Amino acid sequence: MSAKGQKFVPVGDFRLMEDEKAAIMEVLDKGRISEWQKVAEFERVFAKYVGSKHCITTSSGTSALILSLLALRYDGRWPRFKHGGKVITSPVSYIATSNALCLSNLEPVYVDIDPRTFKLDISSLERLLEEEGGDTFAGMLPVHLMGYPNDMDRITKLANEYGLAIVEDSAQAHGSRYNGRRTGSIGIMGTFSFFIAHNIQAGEMGCVTTSDEKLLKLMRQLKANGRVCDCPVCTRSAGICPHLGLADEGEDLDPRFTHEYISYNFKTMEFQAALGVCQMKKADWIFQRRLDNVKYLNDKLKKFSHVLDLPLFSEDVGYLAYPLVLKEGCGISRLNAREGLRQKGVENRPLYGCIPTQQPAYAAFKERYEGRLPNAERVGRDGFYIGCHQYLERDDLDHVVEAFEEVFGGL
Ligand SMILES: Cc1ncc(COP(=O)(O)O)c(C=O)c1O
Repeated sequence: MSAKGQKFVPVGDFRLMEDEKAAIMEVLDKGRISEWQKVAEFERVFAKYVGSKHCITTSSGTSALILSLLALRYDGRWPRFKHGGKVITSPVSYIATSNALCLSNLEPVYVDIDPRTFKLDISSLERLLEEEGGDTFAGMLPVHLMGYPNDMDRITKLANEYGLAIVEDSAQAHGSRYNGRRTGSIGIMGTFSFFIAHNIQAGEMGCVTTSDEKLLKLMRQLKANGRVCDCPVCTRSAGICPHLGLADEGEDLDPRFTHEYISYNFKTMEFQAALGVCQMKKADWIFQRRLDNVKYLNDKLKKFSHVLDLPLFSEDVGYLAYPLVLKEGCGISRLNAREGLRQKGVENRPLYGCIPTQQPAYAAFKERYEGRLPNAERVGRDGFYIGCHQYLERDDLDHVVEAFEEVFGGL
């Protein structure tokens, strides 16, 4: 309910339950709040869930992206991952995807998307690779937006053909499956965000998943300022450190303060990981509740499909939210539609905008891309989303339907 007594249906919600409170207290009682046992536990649980051999936690989904890109640079197996390298990505995403590329001195190259599922449009991708030649690009960073998995078979085939590394931005796709595999386990690396608005919530935290041992070791170092240590849990206080033996006789080498790479601090804390472990026990329930809510809303809102593109339904999608795109010439602007819903207590958000042509920070790309990404520009202009989260009850969903009647009913 809002202060005025009107029902309020938020885009997302976070509820600190007894198990989460107990997990936080456990961290406090153990007395060690920086990365330790809970982080290692979360990494084991999440890697297993995704179906990757390893998971490396980070401070956020943004730092997970930067870490994965930096690891590809230092690894050396993908030599085109160097200063100025070009990476193909989606023009419609939360801004962090493109920001991570630019901040890693890589150039985002945008191809158009499918307007219903926001996946990279494969024929546009093929055309770009054919026209420019595969050597032009270092890799691909597809985004599984709103939970919709990209066509990873076709993307992997192209990546193999042109020698490109794939990092999946799976920040919005916890639990989504593509041909039986979870997103984040298909590319060489997958990145996730556990920001409060996402399906598995930990406040602020992210991770990279991978089955590649070399990248795992590199990322353990790179997330801690490139130091020599690469252990998931430091056992020094127990008198054990595998890296001490690396020093030459008589050399005073402390692996925590000896640095092999120039890098960042992307470590997280035990509290976030403790919340993440609790949340993972509820992952199937969260996934199913969201599916049920999308199905219910789709059924009730189908009478507005002349005005709005409703989300396509699939049991394989871990829905981040309930995305909608206004049909062209439908008789209402996004501004008015969003405001109308907001006034009825239905919280909503814009679908991010087409980054190279509609985001002010990317104005330098505008001239090059304007008019060349029609689907992305339409979704960026006319797309928005409302909540479908696990805490919404039937009366919340019915309130959403009533609000839609009032805003779109006369069109
Ligand atoms: C697709 C996508 N990538 C990356 C991120 C960045 O994650 P964070 O906010 O945890 O830095 C987000 C966050 O919402 C996202 O939606």
